[in-house]
Amino acid sequence: MFIFNTYLCIFFAECTFIILDALQWEQGCPEEQCMVGDVNLFLTESENPGLAEIEIMIAEPVFRGRGFGEESVRLMLFYGVTALGISTFEAKIGLENVTSIRLFHKLHFQDVSLSQVFQEMTLRWEVTEPERQWLAPSSPVMMTTYKEIQRNINNSKLGQSRSDVSSDVKSV
Ligand SMILES: CC(C)(COP(=O)(O)OP(=O)(O)OC[C@H]1O[C@@H](n2cnc3c(N)ncnc32)[C@H](O)[C@@H]1OP(=O)(O)O)[C@@H](O)C(=O)NCCC(=O)NCCS
Repeated sequence: MFIFNTYLCIFFAECTFIILDALQWEQGCPEEQCMVGDVNLFLTESENPGLAEIEIMIAEPVFRGRGFGEESVRLMLFYGVTALGISTFEAKIGLENVTSIRLFHKLHFQDVSLSQVFQEMTLRWEVTEPERQWLAPSSPVMMTTYKEIQRNINNSKLGQSRSDVSSDVKSV
């Protein structure tokens, strides 16, 4: 459904993925025109590198409610667990943001605290073995660099145009 474009910056302990609509992107839509939002991990506590805060935003309202948010958070959790060794994720969500709270509850996050001052709640997901198995994607996830994806697309376009040429030749 979508792919990630990665800006990974461990130095600042922040990991941002831009969410693209893969359907549009694979049809050649320029990236800036098929961005739908972003998902972030913040590794905020240097004394606890296994803890990360997660944030999600589907910025374009027309793309909300279509599964992008859930899929993006699941993939970001998977990336955090497998690539960064994160064992605890937290999400801080405004109390009025019931959509986001429901999303994180669906993804097994538990309520841990409530700040009346900031009108915000903190939810947490601990990566136990059963939870890790629950998170494992049903189909394989390909982690690759952006350049590699582009190279593959260009190669397949090249292959396509070659086969167009050869079918033209055959029909002659
Ligand atoms: C909150 C947000 C990230 C959810 O992403 P999304 O792509 O719209 O949600 P999805 O289509 O993936 O839905 C996943 C789950 O979220 C919840 N959800 C989504 N839309 C909802 C709505 N309109 N009302 C209530 N719950 C909703 C549901 O639990 C849903 O699962 P279900 O369909 O099985 O019930 C997105 O709507 C968004 O960015 N909203 C505005 C900004 C924001 O609130 N950011 C969060 C800051 S932490």
